[in-house]
Amino acid sequence: MPNATLKDLLLHQLKDTYGAEQAIVKALPKMAAAAQSDELRGAFGVHLEETKEQVTRLEKVFKALGEKPEALECKAMSGILAEGEEVIKEFKGSPALDAGLIAAAQAVEHYEITRYGTLLAWAKQLGLSDAEGPLKETLIEEENTDSILSELAEEMVNAQAA
Ligand SMILES: [Fe+2]
Repeated sequence: MPNATLKDLLLHQLKDTYGAEQAIVKALPKMAAAAQSDELRGAFGVHLEETKEQVTRLEKVFKALGEKPEALECKAMSGILAEGEEVIKEFKGSPALDAGLIAAAQAVEHYEITRYGTLLAWAKQLGLSDAEGPLKETLIEEENTDSILSELAEEMVNAQAA
């Protein structure tokens, strides 16, 4: 695309992120089912509901751009989620499983934080005020989820795994 602009880039990354969120909606129930502690299972359950809402928010962002929602396969997210599945297989039944699940989930969150940070900066640059609100809301949600997972790991799960 020789004439591609920041708006084209934003739309491309939006489709990629929309695909990533949909993949996360599919993966979280498996991660919740694998979790050994009630606390971690609960945290995954809460984030599943948030993620469904994040999918809806992205649809609002497409609308703010005057575009129809379309998902692209996010190859980075597919890789991160595949690594999470490997952890489930390799550490099933071991005291280390929940610590591994948290690490896998935090890789997901950190990836999303970079994506939403960029989407928000580009939306601001383009003056897409209707896109800013939903992107900011999701960014804050991902950061909160990351903090909750860190707390769970550091206050409980890592010690159990050790
Ligand atoms: Fe998300």
